[in-house]
Amino acid sequence: MTFNKAEWPRRLRSQEWYGGTSRDNIYHRGWLKNQGHPHDLFDGRPVIGILNTWSDLTPCNGHLRDLAEKVKAGVWQAGGFPLEVPVFSASENTFRPTAMMYRNLAAMAVEEVMRAQPIDGAVLLVGCDKTTPSLLMGAASTDLPSIVVSGGPMLNGWFRGERVGSGTALWQMSEDIKAGKMTQGDFLEAEQAMSRSSGTCNTMGTASTMASMAEALGMALSGNAAIPAVDARRRVMAQLTGRRIVEMVKDDLKPSDVMTRAAFENAIRCNGAIGGSTNAVIHLLALAGRVGVDLSLDDWDRLGRDVPTVVNLMPSGKYLMEEFFYAGGLPVILKRLGEAGMLNKDALTVSGGPIWDEVKDARNWNEDVILPEGKALTQSGGIAVVKGNLAPDGAVLKPSAASPHLLKHRGRAVVFEDIDDYKARIDDDALDIDESCVMVLKNCGPKGYPGMSEVGNMGLPPKVLKKGITDMVRISDARMSGTAYGTVVLHTSPEAAAGGPLAVVRTGDMIELDVPARRLHLDIPDEELQARLAAWASPVVRPNGGYAQLYVDHVEGAHEGADFDFLKGCRGNEVPRDSH
Ligand code: FES
Repeated sequence: MTFNKAEWPRRLRSQEWYGGTSRDNIYHRGWLKNQGHPHDLFDGRPVIGILNTWSDLTPCNGHLRDLAEKVKAGVWQAGGFPLEVPVFSASENTFRPTAMMYRNLAAMAVEEVMRAQPIDGAVLLVGCDKTTPSLLMGAASTDLPSIVVSGGPMLNGWFRGERVGSGTALWQMSEDIKAGKMTQGDFLEAEQAMSRSSGTCNTMGTASTMASMAEALGMALSGNAAIPAVDARRRVMAQLTGRRIVEMVKDDLKPSDVMTRAAFENAIRCNGAIGGSTNAVIHLLALAGRVGVDLSLDDWDRLGRDVPTVVNLMPSGKYLMEEFFYAGGLPVILKRLGEAGMLNKDALTVSGGPIWDEVKDARNWNEDVILPEGKALTQSGGIAVVKGNLAPDGAVLKPSAASPHLLKHRGRAVVFEDIDDYKARIDDDALDIDESCVMVLKNCGPKGYPGMSEVGNMGLPPKVLKKGITDMVRISDARMSGTAYGTVVLHTSPEAAAGGPLAVVRTGDMIELDVPARRLHLDIPDEELQARLAAWASPVVRPNGGYAQLYVDHVEGAHEGADFDFLKGCRGNEVPRDSH
């Protein structure tokens, strides 16, 4: 796949602000000179916005100001003019009710920042989960040349000789405490061992998945996803990215040239091979909506179905991102997909060439971390999409993180009406539940628990854990952290708060999950289901004003990417002239 390179030199959009002698030009240029910029920097060279999601409250991105300096160095080296711009930073570990509620707000802000200001191209400096999709979505809606550089994962965590995976260990240890296998003191000691360097979660959680998705989509330089945050090669990557964006502006290589249907297909298959986060489903659906690529949940199931998961990383496997990098990182996976006929080899990347050129010489340096041909954590590693009368628009499950014996299961529903109901009753030994039951959690979808919190992997009842049971079938309209695991059916759509059938499941109903047949069935007569739906009234109170109200009024279903209805599509980068 090729694109039509623009002529260079030509007049760039930043010259509308900086190139000329009008009062407005002097107003824009003169004020910026108070930062000590010489006049010749405004001569028509590419102005590069370094969109930085650094924040003291986003610790995963805490090192991005340092990294931005390396990006700037690269931009200068290539003859551009770098300007660092702080943008909304949706931190996964601080935002309530969930960072996901702010992904669309961040994307909207990024889009406006890029369009309204003298930016010819952007480096998207991202890391923590939602920062990657939000900046990609914003950039896609302006279609200005853009490139991702990720902050990179933390180094391995170690506790008493064992690897400690971000998030994954947190879920495991909290269950161990409930089961009486770990003390609170040990838990506090382990806390310090979990996060021992700058960077994002070191598991194949959502941050690492989305960094991998950016690379597989062709929106980052090859090798970007896995380099640890504190490795010197991360800073080299930042510098090379700074150089590259200047050339992309000169060539006018835009997100719409790169994020084609072929690129999304590559990313979906890649997600299966890495055992990536279920959150990638929602983010890629939303991103596709921004660039006008017709992508659906069915594409996820169809394209990922035969992809073996070969990256042996937590939460599905054993190792962490540091080891994935040493083993060769994502280029090895993309090469493997290419050799298996599962990669659109000619998909264009930000390099200006086909993705196959970037990965064809990659080598696997550790066959325990990246499993060799013929070995896999699971043969069917993609995201499974189940449908049925309980999920007419679909629900998702990650087979590589599930228990094989539960993938086909019929059980009695134990229903929690919302997250507070779950919290109030789950630890009660009088709760009528055992490991054969199906736990059902309602009203945690995009509208129900605004933002669709990551509560779908609800912890098991202590009385079940004490028997040594570690997994049960769980169904909800919520999401789950990319670092989590279990036989967990997520994103059930339509959600309960929108009147989906999930809303009318009752404790005692029988539910059938059949992942091989892609079926999720509530075993009650259809007339009964229709009668319950007709009598249903939403228990969820609409937020009274502010962003939360905007969110619930305009967020779309999980099966559509949970974007705002009015933000879909590309609005370009034209902007009215100012009126000074
Ligand atoms: Fe930020 Fe995991 S919490 S990357």
